[in-house]
Amino acid sequence: MTMQRFQDKVALITGASSGIGAASAQRLAAEGARVFGLGRDGDGLAATAQAIDAAGGTATMHSADIGKSSECQAAVAACLERYGQLDVLVNCAGGHVFRALHEITEELWLQDLAVNLGGAFFLCQAAMPELRKTGGNIVNIGSLASVEGQAYSATYCSAKHGVLGLTRALAVEFLNTNVRVNAVCPGGTNTPQIGKVGMPDGADFDLIMRTAGARGMSEAEDIAAVIAFVASDEARAVHGAVYMADQGKTAG
Ligand SMILES: NC(=O)c1ccc[n+]([C@@H]2O[C@H](COP(=O)([O-])OP(=O)(O)OC[C@H]3O[C@@H](n4cnc5c(N)ncnc54)[C@H](O)[C@@H]3O)[C@@H](O)[C@H]2O)c1
Repeated sequence: MTMQRFQDKVALITGASSGIGAASAQRLAAEGARVFGLGRDGDGLAATAQAIDAAGGTATMHSADIGKSSECQAAVAACLERYGQLDVLVNCAGGHVFRALHEITEELWLQDLAVNLGGAFFLCQAAMPELRKTGGNIVNIGSLASVEGQAYSATYCSAKHGVLGLTRALAVEFLNTNVRVNAVCPGGTNTPQIGKVGMPDGADFDLIMRTAGARGMSEAEDIAAVIAFVASDEARAVHGAVYMADQGKTAG
């Protein structure tokens, strides 16, 4: 029997057009959530909505650039207008492009920080008053790059380390409330992201391969299962935590 841990709950999930965000949207919808999916890729969002619909779930998709604070605020407002409540925020949208240090312009620095950290911040800020009302929770998606250095990834690592700082800061600031804030850090996962990282000219492949784990890659559905647990009331004892879902890569 499918668990129904999100019956009567509304989940706003970013990056719902592909990969881990799409898998999370489908998993939470399968468990009863009404999903408000956010992303930039209209075709991907439509495909996720169709999959949820075909499985008998409920979803609304919303196109937005989470790199812009005004679009984050508008997305939360649109979710409330559609469903009237918000119980779960999953900040999953992000992007990783390998760049050598000398290639990173001010514009690229600001852009990568905006997408991989700023979006999560502005969505947490906009969602918090609603999550206070419902006793809801936030799951921020970090990375191995949240806890280790990775070559050609100065902007991505800075942002993903920041995602843990954001998670922990909010966990303490809202310690005396009914809201939970946690992070899930996937290791290498089979998603479209893998094909987007590129390779800087003259890159040292051995340095890049330091991020590979002995047990190989996870599937998006495996990470979605961890996200679903952390976002569910079953994890009510979990607050300010960082869940590694990295096939043991950081175990030692
Ligand atoms: N795939 C991996 O190996 C891996 C490992 C660790 C962490 N992660 C993290 O997991 C999360 C999901 O990534 P994924 O692997 O599913 O990749 P993905 O490329 O399939 O998904 C990323 C999603 O974010 C969306 N997105 C990107 N920029 C956006 C913006 N400005 N506004 C709105 N949406 C935007 C994309 O449209 C896409 O749907 C990301 O935060 C990523 O950093 C992935």
